[in-house]
Amino acid sequence: MKITVLTLFPEMYENFLHTSIVGRALARGLAEVEFVQIRDFAPGNYRHVDDTPFGGGSGMVMKCQPVLDALNSVKTDSSYTMIMSPAGKPYSQAKARELAQKEHLILICGHYEGMDARINAHADELVSIGDYVLTGGELASMVIMDSVIRLLKGSITEGSADEESHENGLLEYPQYTHPAEYDGVKVPDVLLSGNHAKIREWRILQSLLLTKEVRPDLFEKHELTAEEAKILKKYEAEE
Ligand code: ADE
Repeated sequence: MKITVLTLFPEMYENFLHTSIVGRALARGLAEVEFVQIRDFAPGNYRHVDDTPFGGGSGMVMKCQPVLDALNSVKTDSSYTMIMSPAGKPYSQAKARELAQKEHLILICGHYEGMDARINAHADELVSIGDYVLTGGELASMVIMDSVIRLLKGSITEGSADEESHENGLLEYPQYTHPAEYDGVKVPDVLLSGNHAKIREWRILQSLLLTKEVRPDLFEKHELTAEEAKILKKYEAEE
């Protein structure tokens, strides 16, 4: 996979691209990341990339020409182009899975008060990483790169992403490691029992209860499997 980032601030990515799982995946060649400096496509000595908004208002708006010339310098028929925007569609694990199949991702990062709306028609979609406003799209693009790169084959242990939060529409069950008792707080007995059927049942139940409590919106949307329904019914009967 190739990822091209259009940005005014490529220096923001330096540590990110060399650290932990992302750093290792890139060193192994699982993905290639390149940057296009949008300012290189702005004309004149001042290389202005932004201007005042038509109709008035505060802040500056990024201009069509430098952004679209930058985009056209890298876009091919196999590119999938996304604009980072708080007004985009909400990003999700399902979208990360979809993007991990793409040959070439182009991530466009705006700054200042946003970008000229005519740029939107040149992208496949606008994406938001959450209901808050960042100073620019760079952090959002790092969130997308991180979540996509870790899904590439060979990036993390095969299967270890499958049981995580959001993979099946639920939050993950709580995890524990040694020691079995810390500061007087014990790990649930069932996890030390060696009974794999019981452990599985406990994990499914915890995942359901946690999701219901913390993310009722996800729980509402989730279609219970036959096994989940059985486990929940048993728990409710015992309560
Ligand atoms: N740019 C500014 N805020 C953003 C957000 N929440 N998601 C994506 N891009 C952004």
